[in-house]
Amino acid sequence: MYSVNVNIMSSNNLNKLILGDNLEILKAMESETVDLIYLDPPFFSNRNYEVIWGDEGEIRSFQDRWAGGIDHYIAWLKERIIEMYRVLKQTGSIFLHCDWHADAYIRVYILDKIFGQNNFRNEIIWCYRGGGSPKSDFGRRHDSIFRYTKSDNYTFNADEIRIPYQAEGIGRKDDAMWGKHKGTDKVYKPNPLGKIPEDWWLINILNANDPERIGYPTQKPYTLLERIVKCASNEGDLVLDPFVGGGTTLAVADKLNRRWIGIDQSVQAVKVTELRLQQQTDLFTSIYI
Ligand SMILES: C[S@@+](CC[C@H](N)C(=O)[O-])C[C@H]1O[C@@H](n2cnc3c(N)ncnc32)[C@H](O)[C@@H]1O
Repeated sequence: MYSVNVNIMSSNNLNKLILGDNLEILKAMESETVDLIYLDPPFFSNRNYEVIWGDEGEIRSFQDRWAGGIDHYIAWLKERIIEMYRVLKQTGSIFLHCDWHADAYIRVYILDKIFGQNNFRNEIIWCYRGGGSPKSDFGRRHDSIFRYTKSDNYTFNADEIRIPYQAEGIGRKDDAMWGKHKGTDKVYKPNPLGKIPEDWWLINILNANDPERIGYPTQKPYTLLERIVKCASNEGDLVLDPFVGGGTTLAVADKLNRRWIGIDQSVQAVKVTELRLQQQTDLFTSIYI
């Protein structure tokens, strides 16, 4: 058991990147202090993810294997989400990123139970294109991001994440939807700043040679996190990512002038994230437990 006091109100008030099991760190955090939580936990994919590490190109990995099956995985995740619920402010939001392996179980057995069905706000479908498709199934090309709040009073800056009406070749480009609609007096005009996205987001996945890649498997695109952080938090708010990986959430939160706390139990993840953040700020502290 770790003995750690993560006082997020500490005098230096610095952003924190913490190496350790998030359950123990979360337990040491004060209640109702966090504005936004984004988590991208292992997906119950039953595979290992490899990281090419150091100058020697050594291969290390993080595991997403669960000997006890789905029940074990759900129990493991649930005890962590109970703590996330506790540290979230009454006005806070959580975005949980998962995929077909466990999405249904997570929603019903964890999020509905802890946050309440009434606080379910969206299932955001992050869809992307990709090569290769199975012979006898449709290619699986989307993840689910469950968005819940702790109450009815929450931050939702939808105007800050407007996108073109015809983003990525999808959407209507004809003018038929504008103007006066038959049988009504309402006149519809396009907003010059674009539209508020629906609950499906078409954002390119990072391909192997993407310049954004920092060499951490399962790294999520900057644009995806930018949309979440802008929409569900304000400048000065505290953003928590308890499964940091390659640090995308922290890099975005930092750029957008949010305060942040990131946790990962993998030394490689913390090192990679440290290097990434050092390129944009020195206003953070790394804590190795
Ligand atoms: C899917 S990755 C996160 C990727 C990240 N969103 C990004 O954009 O790079 C999941 C991370 O969770 C970490 N992890 C798994 N179990 C953990 C635990 N109990 N405490 C802290 N981190 C954990 C793994 O080391 C891994 O880095």
